[in-house]
Amino acid sequence: MSNFQVVKHPLIQHKLSILRRADVSTKEFRELVDEIGMLMAYEVSRDLPLQDVEIDTPVAHMTAQELAGKKLAIVPILRAGIGMVDGILKLIPAARVGHIGMYRDEETLTPVEYLVKLPTDIAERQIFLVDPMLATGGSAILAIDSLKKRNANNIKFVCLVAAPEGIKAVQEAHPDIDIYVAALDDHLNEHGYIVPGLGDAGDRLFGTK
Ligand code: PRP
Ligand code: URA
Repeated sequence: MSNFQVVKHPLIQHKLSILRRADVSTKEFRELVDEIGMLMAYEVSRDLPLQDVEIDTPVAHMTAQELAGKKLAIVPILRAGIGMVDGILKLIPAARVGHIGMYRDEETLTPVEYLVKLPTDIAERQIFLVDPMLATGGSAILAIDSLKKRNANNIKFVCLVAAPEGIKAVQEAHPDIDIYVAALDDHLNEHGYIVPGLGDAGDRLFGTK
């Protein structure tokens, strides 16, 4: 079964609590998603491989360590995933960015894929698939299907607020994928919204409702 982790860093939890508030402006919401995205990237990148490198400091020669040049790709699920990309790029500026466009049909709650644009060597990359919300799990499952269809297998799914139903669904469909969330909420309501959640992440991020 996949590794599932709630990242309980105090800065993440503090910022997430502000993000959830109904009276947060679009500007603040955007800034907070960006900051939490960056903090989550710190945790998710914990096991990136290092290699030795010989360097000279102003004082002495030494063997230091640097990233072993592992190729990375950040893949946001549109729209709301876009809000997490810049924060992650602040920590990992050389990462490539792919996009998977998906929306939930409001009646059936089934995801509909409308765009897939990925780096050509996606199969060789470590992928951070990002979306602030994991509700029924339909969007994440379809996005992972889409990546695997293109031979990408090294995928970590990074999300901010998850429902237990979504975690279970992704773990059953893709037991090999590691899942990182900032919060595990209580349940989904009859409209497929996470409770207590933070509402519609895409609309709050882009000010569309
Ligand atoms: C939201 C969210 C996820 C999806 C989660 O996207 O950003 O992609 O719902 O729900 P699920 O786990 O039940 O699939 P939405 O469909 O609202 O599209 P948007 O980001 O373009 O607003
Ligand atoms: N998508 C969102 O943006 N919010 C939810 O609560 C569920 C799905």
